[in-house]
Amino acid sequence: MELRTQVGIVGAGPAGLLLSHLLHLQGIESIVIESRSRAHCEERVRAGVLEQNSVDLLIQSGLGDRLKREGLVHHGIELRFNRRGHRINMFELTGGRAITVYGQQEVVKDIIGERLRAAGQVHFEAEAVTLRDLAGTKPVIQFRRDGELRQIECDFIAGCDGFHGISRPSIPAGQVALYEKEYPFAWLGILAEAAPSSQEVTYTNHERGFALLSMRSPTLSRLYLQCAPDEDIARWSDDRIWSELHTRTEAGGFTLTEGPIVQRGITPMRSFVAEPMQFGRLYLAGDAAHIVPPTGAKGMNLAMADVNVLARGLAEFYKTGQQVILKRYSEICLRRVWRAQHFSWWMTSMLHRFAGDTGFDYRRQLAELDYVTTSRVAAQSLAENYVGFPLE
Ligand code: FAD
Ligand code: DHB
Repeated sequence: MELRTQVGIVGAGPAGLLLSHLLHLQGIESIVIESRSRAHCEERVRAGVLEQNSVDLLIQSGLGDRLKREGLVHHGIELRFNRRGHRINMFELTGGRAITVYGQQEVVKDIIGERLRAAGQVHFEAEAVTLRDLAGTKPVIQFRRDGELRQIECDFIAGCDGFHGISRPSIPAGQVALYEKEYPFAWLGILAEAAPSSQEVTYTNHERGFALLSMRSPTLSRLYLQCAPDEDIARWSDDRIWSELHTRTEAGGFTLTEGPIVQRGITPMRSFVAEPMQFGRLYLAGDAAHIVPPTGAKGMNLAMADVNVLARGLAEFYKTGQQVILKRYSEICLRRVWRAQHFSWWMTSMLHRFAGDTGFDYRRQLAELDYVTTSRVAAQSLAENYVGFPLE
């Protein structure tokens, strides 16, 4: 069976869904193909920090109702080291910009709801298996649903299928350069039914490793611990997780509130960029094109920034026949991506224990943390990167 659309989108993560919504606002038709079920996409616990740009984009595009009600607006973050907490007042340092803590799965739920209300085509449990004719003007997505092979003829394909998707590997060898860095650790993340222990997102450098305190609501905490890259989560009992979190985060009268752990998982740490982010009529967006280690909270925000550019480029093409923005898609996105790569790598290296680190390395990290929490210009640089640069 053959379908036809203007833009075929592979993947219903934040990138694919937001792209489909932004195109709809421009009168451009799309079909989203997603291998997993709707429930799986809406329940997958992942990132949680929205930059000011992402919040503005969601609100401007009519997706902000629940975000405005339930999102937790934070004007600062905390950096904790040497058993003391230090606040970075991002709001003041960036002339009034903030971040909003709102789970990725809530963003995904909001967009799916809106797409389906507008009778948008999002096919769940439909796996793209081949992308064809990418260099021509009618590229094709072949996908499998209910055991049956079907295809969609498109004007353009957006590869929004994450790091393990098929879009990037569909680009012929030699047409894309891959830059990669693996880190010798991972994060063990939990969601716990416990009131957040810290008022703001708190990054901790401790001799035993990094820890992060975040939240999802006044009754849900999201907490992370640096662990081994090949960590077996079965070896982490609830008691062991809480004990390690207490050890790494408690300082200066602060105590951690415990509660039932309702979700747990290991997040690998990797930096990765594919250049360019385009081949023929295939445009890569989000994790399909780049991965950042989560310490800078940039992954979901980069995905949204990419599709904002792509939607503008496609709108220009359908309105005028021109491809000025589409031709610059990769260049525009990669500038932001590499800036976020540097920031995420820098935050990661300042806050984690690396195998082979000596007392020298730890003291160098403490000196750097002391600098960013006491020098206004250093704090301002961190704050500017963390809240995110305006969308181009
Ligand atoms: P995704 O959200 O990965 O969406 C891709 C979609 O494509 C998926 O729904 C997938 O099922 C679908 N797909 C894949 N292959 C196919 C196919 N062949 N056919 C059809 N559909 C397909 N970032 C942070 O900042 N902080 C965090 O704490 C954090 N935690 C994370 C934890 C995990 C386990 C992971 C994987 C990522 C995490 N991230 C985090 C990163 C952040 O979640 C991503 O950057 C974000 O999801 C990118 O959105 P995306 O739409 O590009 O990709
Ligand atoms: C969260 C995730 C991050 O990667 C981060 O840097 C800060 C907060 C979170 O899940 O809330």
